[in-house]
Amino acid sequence: MKTYLVTGGAGFIGSNFVIHMLSSYNDVKIVNLDKLTYAGNLENLKGVENNGNHVFVQGDICDKELVGRLFTEYDFDYVINFAAESHVDRSIKEPEVFASTNVLGTVTLLNAAKSAWEKDGVWKEGAKFLQVSTDEVYGSLGDTGYFMETTPLDPHSPYSSSKAGADMMVKAYADTFKMPVNITRCSNNYGPYQFPEKLIPLIINNCLNKRPLPVYGDGLNVRDWLYVVDHCKAIDMVARNGRLGEVYNVGGHNERTNIHIVKTIIAYLNENVDETITEDLIKYVEDRKGHDRRYGIDPTKIREELGWEPETMYEDGIKLTIQWYLDNKDWMDHITSGSYQEYYEKMYSGR
Ligand code: NAD
Ligand code: TYD
Repeated sequence: MKTYLVTGGAGFIGSNFVIHMLSSYNDVKIVNLDKLTYAGNLENLKGVENNGNHVFVQGDICDKELVGRLFTEYDFDYVINFAAESHVDRSIKEPEVFASTNVLGTVTLLNAAKSAWEKDGVWKEGAKFLQVSTDEVYGSLGDTGYFMETTPLDPHSPYSSSKAGADMMVKAYADTFKMPVNITRCSNNYGPYQFPEKLIPLIINNCLNKRPLPVYGDGLNVRDWLYVVDHCKAIDMVARNGRLGEVYNVGGHNERTNIHIVKTIIAYLNENVDETITEDLIKYVEDRKGHDRRYGIDPTKIREELGWEPETMYEDGIKLTIQWYLDNKDWMDHITSGSYQEYYEKMYSGR
């Protein structure tokens, strides 16, 4: 039995990871530490609520006492750190919480792991700290080229800067204390359980409610999209087999402009749900401040070293995803009632 501390496991990618791991392995136990911020949702974990190998703990990764207690109570083999403030637009409005959770929270976890795993310079056999990072730490690309693991960090938003800060602290623990770590840097994820502040679920929800579809700037910014379960499989592979101290980029060479994504969603919903959902709903709005133009991952290292390849192609994954939101309207309705409306007005009114 291997015991994992998964942080942020009630969020989008974390919950997909918990579900993936518990449905793939019987010898994995997961302690899921999540603060349940606006982005955390226990409904994401309904499928594993009766699974005896899943323990949910509501709490903050910045809470030293709680994190220390969990390390004493459970003999963790792995820490997989998903917990973060994750939305660029929010980071532009409220950067402090990004510095606090993303940087200080990561340091709190590193310290607790070091205390539990290291005795006189010798580390617990097989233990590993995996930091779930993002390609956004590399900054922005022009029309050509890709992010490699060797690309210098050049983050621009408070979000990506805080993630780069966390990556540097993880590297510091590896370099200074020989802590066993890996860092994964993945491109944009899409799939079930994504909070509708992010492009794809926001556009789906707005289409269904016949609200304008806000496209920032000229709509030609490019993101490299990966189906979330493929990301979860990559994290599992890196945790088990990644070379200690290494960074692995994760992406599937699937670059799309934002306007292409928006039009794909409209076309699917027009054909399958309601023919009054049309491109007339598109509204070009004021651009995001400091908007990164293009992200694109070179995944050669993870493919050659670990044999990881994306399994869900975009053409299938995007349909699966839109259909999932159609089949799970209750999930969306619960999330978008209450404070979501307030967020939406604050973010989009006057744009
Ligand atoms: P999310 O916002 O959906 O989920 C974040 C989760 O962390 C939530 O459940 C939230 O409650 C929890 N959390 C926030 N602050 C916390 C704290 N202080 N203590 C404990 N829990 C806390 O984010 P996501 O999209 O699932 O992203 C997960 C991780 O993957 C993040 O680290 C993000 O930087 C990284 N990442 C995301 C993407 C993407 O496309 N979404 C791509 C690459 C990397
Ligand atoms: P997002 O899903 O916020 O991810 P990230 O900024 O981390 O890449 O945004 C994806 C792209 O979509 C990004 O270029 C910004 C753009 N976007 C819009 O055009 N309209 C929107 O309402 C949102 C949320 C994003």
